[in-house]
Amino acid sequence: MPVIAFANSKGGSGKTTSALLLACELAETTDVTIIDADPRHPISKWATPRDSKSVPPKRLTVLQNDSENTIIDEIEEAAARDPFVIIDLEGVASKKNAFAISQADLVIIPMKEQQQDAEAALDVIKELVTLSKMSGKKLPFSVLFTQTKVVAKSRTSRFIAKQFRDNARIDCFNVEVNERDAFAAIYTMGGSIRTLDAKQTNGIDRAVENITGFAAEVVTKLRAQNIDKQGRAA
Ligand SMILES: Nc1ncnc2c1ncn2[C@@H]1O[C@H](COP(=O)(O)OP(=O)(O)OP(=O)(O)O)[C@@H](O)[C@H]1O
Ligand SMILES: [Mg+2]
Repeated sequence: MPVIAFANSKGGSGKTTSALLLACELAETTDVTIIDADPRHPISKWATPRDSKSVPPKRLTVLQNDSENTIIDEIEEAAARDPFVIIDLEGVASKKNAFAISQADLVIIPMKEQQQDAEAALDVIKELVTLSKMSGKKLPFSVLFTQTKVVAKSRTSRFIAKQFRDNARIDCFNVEVNERDAFAAIYTMGGSIRTLDAKQTNGIDRAVENITGFAAEVVTKLRAQNIDKQGRAA
């Protein structure tokens, strides 16, 4: 049921990769639809099998969106069918992105710890506030730091992340999606990080641990929202 959209108008901020990693992880145990709403369709390309090992998880459905006119219906249909719907959006500000975001139970804003990504993340947050006012519906969001260094972060990276983490009005994931070879390798090899060959890719175990933690925090956030909704409804 929950709809999770990945949005940041800055290209390369980690939307597609984080969306795909989350979708594959959740699909280990439940049915998930990922809507590939980027006109370049990176997820549909990833899903095209290269060999018997590179197939997407069985419980993951990849749906290609081709028009802003159909996105809301596609999201509704998928949400009625599957326990999780994940939407990968193009790195632009567009009508389609606004339509998709307005249907989300959680908007994840991936960003690198860099100035341009930070500015674009703030633009998404402003857009969410506007859309929320327009629709009268709360649009929960959370910033996800991506492609972060596991060791030896630069001062600039730490400074940018701190600005967000210290801002009481901006929710941030505790978990970061680190920069890891396994996360880039899924595009080359196909399949999920769990089906990668340890002879060809380093650090698969740590990559899996990283994404298990990310998926767990997503589920915790969605649960907290539900409790909040029920509390307010009571
Ligand atoms: N955590 C990561 N570790 C290693 N490489 C990564 C990671 N996240 C993203 N990348 C790489 O960085 C590049 C950009 O990432 P991605 O495509 O996920 O960004 P995006 O926000 O979806 O970009 P766009 O706006 O162009 O759709 C890709 O080549 C991807 O393989
Ligand atoms: Mg993308």
